[in-house]
Amino acid sequence: MNVVIQLQPLNQHKMAIFPETIMKGKRNPLLSDECLNLLNYRIQQEEQSSRMYLSMSLWLNNEGYTGAAKLWRKYSDEELSHADWARDYLLAMGVTPSTPNLSSEPNTYQGLPQIIQLSYDHEINVTKQIKELGDKAFKSGDHMLYTLVGEYLKEQREEHDKTQTWVDKLAAFGTDKIAMRWLDEEMGG
Ligand SMILES: [Fe+2]
Ligand SMILES: [Fe+2]
Repeated sequence: MNVVIQLQPLNQHKMAIFPETIMKGKRNPLLSDECLNLLNYRIQQEEQSSRMYLSMSLWLNNEGYTGAAKLWRKYSDEELSHADWARDYLLAMGVTPSTPNLSSEPNTYQGLPQIIQLSYDHEINVTKQIKELGDKAFKSGDHMLYTLVGEYLKEQREEHDKTQTWVDKLAAFGTDKIAMRWLDEEMGG
């Protein structure tokens, strides 16, 4: 016995409810190309920061600085959540975030003081990048994106506070073995 499947005709009325969205694709027109690219760059840079702090943590661990290693591992994990902020924003705008290439990081360092100094300098660079994103958001009148930039800047203030504290302690107590031992204890909490 032959079974005849009857196809239902398309409901033209329902198809026409959101014609503009269907024609233009999912991307929200409020997001400019320039800001989209900077948000993908933000993802890459936050992931790279995570990798940098991870490499520092691994070296510290292997050199006996177990307290500092634990703290830098925490910093590494936090950076991944900052990448998620940009991803979530892009998703809210109907854009699939990119999964960019990352560069390798050193697997050797001169010591904890150098790691503190590199981390301090790195956070200054990141804040400069976020200020650029803020400038672009402001100039293109993207106030919604500007609120995300505010979140990043608030986070950066905390990052500067942390790295400044470690730099201050190096200046106050020096970098000999005893000072390093105390600092490592303190960093491990
Ligand atoms: Fe970050
Ligand atoms: Fe950071």
